[in-house]
Amino acid sequence: MPTIDNPTEKTLAELGLTSSSEIPALFAGVREQFDRQLDAKTAREPDYLAMHYAWLGRKSGILGAITDNWLKSAPSALKPAVGQALNELKRHIESRLELFRLAVEKSSAESAATREKVDLSLPGVIRPIGTHHLIRQVLQEIEDIFFSIGFSVVEGPEIETPYYNFEALNIPEFHPVRDDMDTFYLELPKGAPGQLLLRTHTSPVQIRTMEKRQPPVRVIVPGKVYRHDNPDATHSFMFHQIEGLAVDSDITFCDFTGTIDYFVKQFFGESVKTRFRPSYFPFTEPSVEFDVSCVFCGGSGTAKTGGTCGKCKGSGWIELFGAGMVDPAVYGFVNYDPKKVSGFAFGIGIDRLAMLKYGIDDIQAFFQNDVRFLRQFP
Ligand code: FA5
Repeated sequence: MPTIDNPTEKTLAELGLTSSSEIPALFAGVREQFDRQLDAKTAREPDYLAMHYAWLGRKSGILGAITDNWLKSAPSALKPAVGQALNELKRHIESRLELFRLAVEKSSAESAATREKVDLSLPGVIRPIGTHHLIRQVLQEIEDIFFSIGFSVVEGPEIETPYYNFEALNIPEFHPVRDDMDTFYLELPKGAPGQLLLRTHTSPVQIRTMEKRQPPVRVIVPGKVYRHDNPDATHSFMFHQIEGLAVDSDITFCDFTGTIDYFVKQFFGESVKTRFRPSYFPFTEPSVEFDVSCVFCGGSGTAKTGGTCGKCKGSGWIELFGAGMVDPAVYGFVNYDPKKVSGFAFGIGIDRLAMLKYGIDDIQAFFQNDVRFLRQFP
């Protein structure tokens, strides 16, 4: 805090002042002190605040001290002269400080303007525009194909109950097929009413849909699914499936094969061949695995460079997905009459389909977020 030579802590009596003619000189000294201090400052806000506080501050300002020590305690003969001199000093200090404040404002506005000067002739900042991830692109391709034949999209929760993920799909507790779909269970608080798990497939949404809708049902269900699978070139613990379900009063195995064949030809091209192999899923009967002729070697089993095709291991076929006619037992869980309705369902691994179509030999590439990989699929 600035100091002044004339200590304002003392009263006039202590300073030895007895005549009003001595007052103007006393105040002139203070005013000179103030002017000198202010002239030494630069027009910056901290300097303004420091001066304001030192001179006009309510508790410890110099003018406050003068008021207490010189005016209030002055003998009544001196009071008018002290009061007048104090008012003049106050006006002087306030007006000079106000001018100083305006100078501070002006200089900070000028420096901000210099800082923020915009050169409009410079080129703008071009931010790279992202694209859809390949999985999303493939999903949209698949959706478009099924939209064109009357399917619509429904979605379901990724956190499921064992009932929807297993039981209602005709997979009772301790059924061996549960081993193939080992999954992640959620740690729930004590006393929680039941278990919750990350769904292992999109099939639970078959049940949820049939519970809500009456036939005809024709839906596809895209989404993330989870399995306790060790990651390798074709397995990930999180991957994507698209489920299909069609139920009506007169759906036959021919409708099923025709739909799948149509989808595969639209997706891979007219030249691919398809075939079914018997398989087993508790919720379809009969169940099939659907194969497509190898898109890498054209189904010949021989690589273009000669030798055995590494992708289909020389068989000329690549396994695509599981499917089948909906098992009548499933209709029992959703109050459909199995004598009146029939239908088919399929579950496609989107990641594997994308790998086949775009020649990607490691599923992990989808999840590593390496832009050098992602940029190849704009
Ligand atoms: C099922 O998940 C059945 N829900 C499919 C189904 C639906 C059958 C409706 C009948 C009727 P599966 O376990 O085979 O079936 O998995 C389906 C597809 O998911 C596989 O063909 C494969 O493409 C893909 N897949 C399975 N496990 C993984 C994994 N760990 N990583 C990546 N893709 C996987």
